[in-house]
Amino acid sequence: MKMPVALLLLLALCNAIKIHGEESNGLCDVNLTLRSRPHSVSILEFGAVGDGKTLNTIAFQNAIFYLKSFADKGGAQLYVPPGRWLTGSFNLTSHLTLFLEKGAVILGSQDPSHWDIVEPLPSYGPGTELPGKRYRSLVNGYMLRDVVITGDNGTIDGQGSVWWEWFTSHSLNYSCPHLVEFVSSESILVSNITFLNAPAYNMHPVYCSHVHIHHITVYAPPGSPYTVGIVPDSSDNVCIEDCSISMGYDAIALKSGWDEYGIAYGRPTANVHIRRVQLQSFSGSSLAFGSQMSGGISDVQVQQLHLYDSLTGIEFRTTKGRGGYIKEIAISDVNMLNIKTAFGANGHFGSHPDDKFDPDALPLVAKITIQNIIGTNISMAGNFTGIEESPFTSICLSNVSLSINSASSSPWQCSYVSGFSESVFPEPCSELNNPDASSSCFSLLKPNGRAAVL
Ligand SMILES: *[C@@H]1O[C@H](CO)[C@@H](O)[C@H](O)[C@H]1NC(C)=O
Ligand SMILES: *[C@@H]1O[C@H](CO)[C@@H](O)[C@H](O)[C@H]1NC(C)=O
Ligand SMILES: *[C@@H]1O[C@H](CO)[C@@H](O)[C@H](O)[C@H]1NC(C)=O
Ligand SMILES: *[C@@H]1O[C@H](CO)[C@@H](O)[C@H](O)[C@H]1NC(C)=O
Ligand SMILES: *[C@@H]1O[C@H](CO)[C@@H](O)[C@H](O)[C@H]1NC(C)=O
Ligand SMILES: *[C@@H]1O[C@H](CO)[C@@H](O)[C@H](O)[C@H]1NC(C)=O
Ligand SMILES: *[C@@H]1O[C@H](CO)[C@@H](O)[C@H](O)[C@H]1NC(C)=O
Ligand SMILES: *[C@@H]1O[C@H](CO)[C@@H](O)[C@H](O)[C@H]1NC(C)=O
Repeated sequence: MKMPVALLLLLALCNAIKIHGEESNGLCDVNLTLRSRPHSVSILEFGAVGDGKTLNTIAFQNAIFYLKSFADKGGAQLYVPPGRWLTGSFNLTSHLTLFLEKGAVILGSQDPSHWDIVEPLPSYGPGTELPGKRYRSLVNGYMLRDVVITGDNGTIDGQGSVWWEWFTSHSLNYSCPHLVEFVSSESILVSNITFLNAPAYNMHPVYCSHVHIHHITVYAPPGSPYTVGIVPDSSDNVCIEDCSISMGYDAIALKSGWDEYGIAYGRPTANVHIRRVQLQSFSGSSLAFGSQMSGGISDVQVQQLHLYDSLTGIEFRTTKGRGGYIKEIAISDVNMLNIKTAFGANGHFGSHPDDKFDPDALPLVAKITIQNIIGTNISMAGNFTGIEESPFTSICLSNVSLSINSASSSPWQCSYVSGFSESVFPEPCSELNNPDASSSCFSLLKPNGRAAVL
């Protein structure tokens, strides 16, 4: 009885791989053309001084104000030469390329008065770390289109140590700023640069469409609290490829708003393609979904990950009161090394923005396929802790081989979860071994870039 069903699944998966292999039409294969800008100015022309001490906020603001006038002439480039360019927060403009030369370092000021204070995001209600306002990011885009941040591996360094200290000692007056944030923007390209020491997130596209991030290096040291690499948040058509990210907390975290505020805002994170990335997370997950996911997260294709030295490899997080969904996620070709828990799905994760959330707003977690995984020096294979009133369903594992380092007699822990598995070692819990669930297993993407159910 089990064999034909299993064989059917295997055949179907093989077909999907053939169609969507290296030459597939996943989102990342859609070329975002990098047009060269007809005009370029150097930040030096606006009086900037790259000595690491002079504050250059006004120079950046003036340069970008000047470059606004080129928006209808094909846009313009702001060139940042080698040097250490200290600045407070500044805004970008549409049809702009910010180019960081080799040896160019944009340094975030360690004086909070150099960072503007703004309202929290509507999908997060009263705000994240602290209720109320938040610091604006170092580099900001609001309602922009066609913006490129690139260079010859120049650096944006948030000098976040002061923020981490304030966060840890509870002396912040507003929520921590991020390094680069785009709000309600589209056609954003970020490539060939290094992000260091963000106060919180490094790259935060929120309410955005068509965001392509590639060849970036992101680092924050162990112990930096809640530093996160890339956070696609209520955004769609996002490609992240060829990046190397090592973070205090999560390396990549997909989000879409918080409880009743995220549900009301109703903007999902969808159509995301992540491939060829190396991720490390000291105290969080290499790749996380949620826990703020109230607008929904779906149609996510992940391929060719290398995850190492992390607390959790891949984790799905939610809790009662979130509403929303995490569904139609296809993850394949993952190599894991030195990971405490390879896979996690946690239905009791995180807190609430206030006590106005609806405890009956149950999240849906379904149609997640994980295949072609090799793991070495793993302590726990999987911890799937679903929600009694809304169990996680159609969780499908195929061709997973994990070498477990501990003498733990139960490498898998499962409750309120169901799914199917095929060629999984160590043998998963019975909840994930239900042949009847195989028909609802989720496949890789179709050629048109949309995910589909088998
Ligand atoms: C995208 O660009 C690459 C490199 O320029 C090229 O090889 C490839 O054919 C392009 N793909 C499409 C679909 O145009
Ligand atoms: C930056 O953009 C915001 C809108 O997001 C605006 O309120 C603010 O005044 C701008 N700051 C400067 C210096 O232009
Ligand atoms: C990225 O940087 C490398 C070397 O640092 C260079 O060879 C490559 O052309 C750059 N790519 C883009 C898109 O600028
Ligand atoms: C860019 O710089 C970072 C840090 O300096 C380095 O780790 C990384 O390897 C560099 N990337 C490239 C492509 O040269
Ligand atoms: C928070 O506000 C207090 C009172 O105005 C001030 O003394 C303190 O320096 C502020 N903290 C930070 C991190 O800015
Ligand atoms: C195995 O991984 C753990 C972290 O989970 C690490 O502390 C340990 O050094 C690793 N062992 C080996 C032999 O690499
Ligand atoms: C199983 O996964 C491994 C690791 O990704 C891969 O090398 C191998 O080809 C896969 N086997 C099948 C039958 O797909
Ligand atoms: C599995 O996750 C649940 C929920 O977070 C937690 O309570 C439990 O301790 C975890 N189990 C193990 C063995 O880590």
